[in-house]
Amino acid sequence: MAAALFDVFGTLLDVYSVTRRAEELFAGNGERLARLWRERQIEYSRLRTMSGRYVSFSEVTRDALEYSLQALKLEAAPDDVTRLADEYKRLAPFVDVAPALARLHGAGVQLGVLSNGDSEMLETALVTSGLHRYIDLVLSADQVRAFKTSPSVYALGPRALKLQPHQITFVSSNCWDACGAAWYGYTSFWVNRNDAVLERLGVKLSGVGTSLTDAAEFVLQQIHQGKELSI
Ligand code: LAC
Repeated sequence: MAAALFDVFGTLLDVYSVTRRAEELFAGNGERLARLWRERQIEYSRLRTMSGRYVSFSEVTRDALEYSLQALKLEAAPDDVTRLADEYKRLAPFVDVAPALARLHGAGVQLGVLSNGDSEMLETALVTSGLHRYIDLVLSADQVRAFKTSPSVYALGPRALKLQPHQITFVSSNCWDACGAAWYGYTSFWVNRNDAVLERLGVKLSGVGTSLTDAAEFVLQQIHQGKELSI
């Protein structure tokens, strides 16, 4: 059975959908805050993994928000900090996501997420966005108390699906994540939503596109080619 695993934040769900709420609270600073917040969230996840200082992604996210508010000299009431952090539980999916997942689901592809998010954060975000109906498997970095690009996180996929890494297509909009998955041995597809430049990490990705529609097409092509090879 064919399987595809998706990154969540930035790939299925738009992390910059917090910008609107941030802009409501801090007019003129919403975008800067959303960017610094995301940057610091990733930075903290890496530092904590490198030094073996794991805390959940919810905590990392809250810490990164508090840092960013202070760094940008934005005064926030405790309620506002909680409200902003809670936005992560109701991030909007990108418009191309539900149709692509529905298509793959309809074709019998086993679909899962493999994310830095902790299980509770993921369950809430997937249910709120309505994407849970397409997702068979929720794999969280919390299970191994490390964040991507730690190989221990990517190892969750093959273990749960009982497949070799190359038999699974991993899809991410975060180029560094697609590279991490390729290093682990996945068939890795990068959804380059923002016309970004390929990270110089010596990785050759299996596929690149600009939308989740392209990713679904790639997964279906892989299945088709696999069938032709086995005839
Ligand atoms: C995730 C982060 C990388 O969902 O966006 O794992």
